[in-house]
Amino acid sequence: MTTLKINGRQVSVAGPDNAPLLWVIRDEVGLTGTKFGCGIGQCGACTVHIDGKAVRSCITPLSAVAGKSVTTIEGLDPHGTHPVQLAWIEAQAPQCGYCQSGQIMQAAALLAAKPHPTDAEIDQGMNGNLCRCMAYVRIKQAIKLAAKSKAGKTKQGAHA
Ligand code: FES
Ligand code: FES
Repeated sequence: MTTLKINGRQVSVAGPDNAPLLWVIRDEVGLTGTKFGCGIGQCGACTVHIDGKAVRSCITPLSAVAGKSVTTIEGLDPHGTHPVQLAWIEAQAPQCGYCQSGQIMQAAALLAAKPHPTDAEIDQGMNGNLCRCMAYVRIKQAIKLAAKSKAGKTKQGAHA
């Protein structure tokens, strides 16, 4: 049995130590927002946060997350209104949508670490998240919108 937190909820799972976290999340816990793309850490579709950092769940063994806190797309914001999610809607970033959970999780971690990323930092931070629909321009635009809206909120908060 391995115990970890997923989206704030403590769960105990019986899978083998080397079970990929992706399959634990999808098959054991039933959260299917996190997608399988390549299975070898090369596409980013399976990106989740572990203790706030973006990781590829397809190559993360269950043993590596014992006692840790995992956040999936379902837990990024209780109402689905995280600034990155709102910016994604505003920019109409997705096409088929398959890569988008991973893109959003990667972008949220990027902005948490660098609230005002430069173009080069966005390119570097998002480099490992592939999109077969080539929605890269809109994804980048959405990240910039999210950075702006977060900055606006911080400013308003400072005057509140
Ligand atoms: S499915 Fe994990 S990186 Fe592609
Ligand atoms: S929106 Fe289709 S793969 Fe990215």
